[in-house]
Amino acid sequence: MKAVQIHTYGDASVLHYGEAEKPSLNPDDILIRVVASSVNPVDWKIRRGYLQDMLPYQMPLTLGWDVSGIVEEVGANVTRFQVGDAVFSRPDIKRNGTYAEYVAVRESEAAYKPRTASHVASASLPLAGITAWEVIVNASQTQPGQRVLIHAASGGVGTLAVQLAKWRGAHVIATTSEKNRKLVESLGADEVIDYTTQNFQDVVKNVDVVFDTLGGDVQEASWSVLKPGGILVSIVAPPSEDTAKAHGVRSAFVFIEPNADILRRMADLVDNGLLRPVIFAEFALKDIVKAHELSESGRSVGKIVIHVGQP
Ligand SMILES: NC(=O)c1ccc[n+]([C@@H]2O[C@H](COP(=O)([O-])OP(=O)(O)OC[C@H]3O[C@@H](n4cnc5c(N)ncnc54)[C@H](OP(=O)(O)O)[C@@H]3O)[C@@H](O)[C@H]2O)c1
Repeated sequence: MKAVQIHTYGDASVLHYGEAEKPSLNPDDILIRVVASSVNPVDWKIRRGYLQDMLPYQMPLTLGWDVSGIVEEVGANVTRFQVGDAVFSRPDIKRNGTYAEYVAVRESEAAYKPRTASHVASASLPLAGITAWEVIVNASQTQPGQRVLIHAASGGVGTLAVQLAKWRGAHVIATTSEKNRKLVESLGADEVIDYTTQNFQDVVKNVDVVFDTLGGDVQEASWSVLKPGGILVSIVAPPSEDTAKAHGVRSAFVFIEPNADILRRMADLVDNGLLRPVIFAEFALKDIVKAHELSESGRSVGKIVIHVGQP
């Protein structure tokens, strides 16, 4: 089968489009014929070797951990899916990924894709959507009327987080640059702060939840905008518990795992018109280098999707 693999860590030039072994199935696996995949920053972080200590991979490694496609084969223990089902998944990041014509994933990691969304739109959802859900619904338990500050609201995670926070009834304050203001407002943000001209900490106060997608100085400056008892949730760098205590607030760090239950609930929201995938760019699998360069630029809006096979 065709796949994009890396044989060594490095810059985008190590991405190799060529032939790879079709995955073999474990009894709990389904084999998905991949229609679309998507790019997440973790793909190029892994490619660069940044996560080597946490995720010691064998080479060659197929990158990509989002998929929408068709079930091609089922393992002996599989009960929920049949050949021909249209599914989407954020599979186990420790296994070979989805920049490939076929991927083996545990049935427990997959769900029926949204009926009303294409495979391309569906492939944009799992990793970023599970992340946004884990932060907005689970870690922060955002409640109606609460004030939620979402950093990088125009990103892959942010565009879904804004919508989920609105769906939970929150007042959403979003940071992005001016060029993305209209998009972020169209997703439901009540206030948009252009981070290139304003320091958010000068204009935002009394926030119940900060969603930190950036870490560093942005995380540091975020403590001061929380109200007592509020929570800062980061997906980039574990916040200091001591600093949280000193500010009288709480903190959490989220690193996601596969979660089919969240996928099912997101598919329902999409099919009910309550969650809209945002696609910024689409590339063929053989053009993966361009897709990675765009993601690494830090300027993409919503998601970058990869076309792999026919629907
Ligand atoms: N822990 C986990 O499980 C987990 C899961 C998913 C993602 N992540 C991490 O979360 C981060 C975000 O992921 P993503 O997919 O959303 O990234 P992304 O799509 O690449 O984010 C790009 C967006 O960030 C905005 N941005 C950049 N700097 C900003 C700033 N200082 N203030 C406000 N907006 C800014 C950009 O807007 P402008 O062009 O306007 O600057 C752009 O639209 C990544 O580091 C990723 O690895 C972690």
